[in-house]
Amino acid sequence: MLPKRRRVGAGSAHSAVASSSPLVPRFPGVAIYLAEPRMGRSRRAFLTRLARSKGFRILDVYRSAAPARAGQCSEVTHVVMEGTSAKEAICWQKNMDALLPGCSQPALLDISWFTESMAAGQPVPEEARHRLEVAESRKEPPVSVTLPAYACQRPSPLTHHNTFLSEALETLAEAAGFEGNEGRLLSFYRAATVLKSLPFPVTSLSQLHGLPYFGEHSSRAIQELLEHGTCEEVEQVRCSERHQTMKLFTQVFGVGVKTANRWYQEGLRTLEELREQPQRLTQQQKAGLQYYQDLSTPVGRADAEALQQLVEAAVRQTLPGATVTLTGGFRRGKLQGHDVDFLITHPEEGREVGLLPRVMSCLQSQGLVLYHQYHRSHLDSAHTLRPSSTMDAFERSFCILCLPQPQQAALEGALHPCPTWKAVRVDLVVTPNSQFPFALLGWTGSQFFERELRRFSRQEKGLWLNSHGLFDPEQKRVFHATSEEDVFRFLGLKYLPPEQRNA
Ligand code: UTP
Ligand code: MN
Repeated sequence: MLPKRRRVGAGSAHSAVASSSPLVPRFPGVAIYLAEPRMGRSRRAFLTRLARSKGFRILDVYRSAAPARAGQCSEVTHVVMEGTSAKEAICWQKNMDALLPGCSQPALLDISWFTESMAAGQPVPEEARHRLEVAESRKEPPVSVTLPAYACQRPSPLTHHNTFLSEALETLAEAAGFEGNEGRLLSFYRAATVLKSLPFPVTSLSQLHGLPYFGEHSSRAIQELLEHGTCEEVEQVRCSERHQTMKLFTQVFGVGVKTANRWYQEGLRTLEELREQPQRLTQQQKAGLQYYQDLSTPVGRADAEALQQLVEAAVRQTLPGATVTLTGGFRRGKLQGHDVDFLITHPEEGREVGLLPRVMSCLQSQGLVLYHQYHRSHLDSAHTLRPSSTMDAFERSFCILCLPQPQQAALEGALHPCPTWKAVRVDLVVTPNSQFPFALLGWTGSQFFERELRRFSRQEKGLWLNSHGLFDPEQKRVFHATSEEDVFRFLGLKYLPPEQRNA
């Protein structure tokens, strides 16, 4: 289940390694030079590929002194170093600047600025803690820390210090999921999420001592990554036809690991081959293929907000007083997502019944619905009380909406006029008000965070949690919550705001 939902867009680590041609830089004011002294050549090459695949400009030389341009400064704006003390860094810069005096000095930054920027998909603001000039006291990494075992017991921020390591473990987790090996998937994934919670970048294996979930296999991969900048097993997985095809197929709306695997076993490899066999495809998969290009492009925050306005207008028109809440990754602070998730409710219990078909008709009448699959609510006590059901019983609609795109002033002679609309995956879920806190908690994710929360409830508290409620099977009683904070309190957990649930 995990790999299917973990759809990653064009900027995934996978494409980072697979693509060798640098893309057009997306951040014109930023030109990075990765200084090698302690980074090592292969790690530098890896980070260069990663950054370029995300649209960053990485310069190969610090100061270009080509004869024709003698005296001209290079354009490096950010020098990034790893495992280097401020003293060393400043010394390095002095030596380099001696070659071409009089140029303006780029910022000297620790690798943490780089990894955070990679994770954010854009340059993050340079804070004091990133600067090598002032960050000296921070350079000695902590020897060890202790972390609680469940991801719901500790904060998992969106950007963290160990992206390069956690992405590698997530690739191994994903590959295990493609092979149907749930146990292996979870071990790698749990180790990856521990890395996300660490308050420092891991630079030596000894720092992982005593942390939960670092088994032999994950530790070996981390050691290789720390020593060589790459891990052979991870690279092999990423380059393999099997992995690439499974990723391609599972990224199609309506295609899960099982179906993707069956197609792979039958020798299918490309989307064209799938399109040639329409009789084998569900309506959902046909729509997924039809809009593949748009749907595999990450949805930005501005698009999510524009969609919220469209959905809110339709909901308001259908049932005044009903509310629309943005959930999923965007509520956790993500800047991009594979879809947009909304939760709809009405303060008066019962008024929300039958709301969704009317909202969908309203959207349809505006020509905004490209595809939709409606699920009637099948709420009954038996379902609500089930310990963990993979599917909620809410009234919901999985749709592909047509989002009008703002038009820039038409450029004369432009080769490609910009498209006037874009297909976006949207999930609309309706909840009765009494279940709203549970639904909000359940649909905010991350998926792994939810999984951990339910596991914690069951194993540590003997309680059953899902998106409908929290149930005590011994006392046969349900908990009444009016906020997410209530749910954390019932479970004896410290409250974590959405932005700290990025496990
Ligand atoms: P998503 O798969 O949309 O993930 O599920 P996301 O975190 O928003 O990530 P991107 O950016 O779209 O890729 C959001 C939440 O909704 C829950 C998941 O558990 C996750 O926590 N969910 C999703 C369900 O409860 N049921 C579903 O059928 C789908
Ligand atoms: Mn989502």
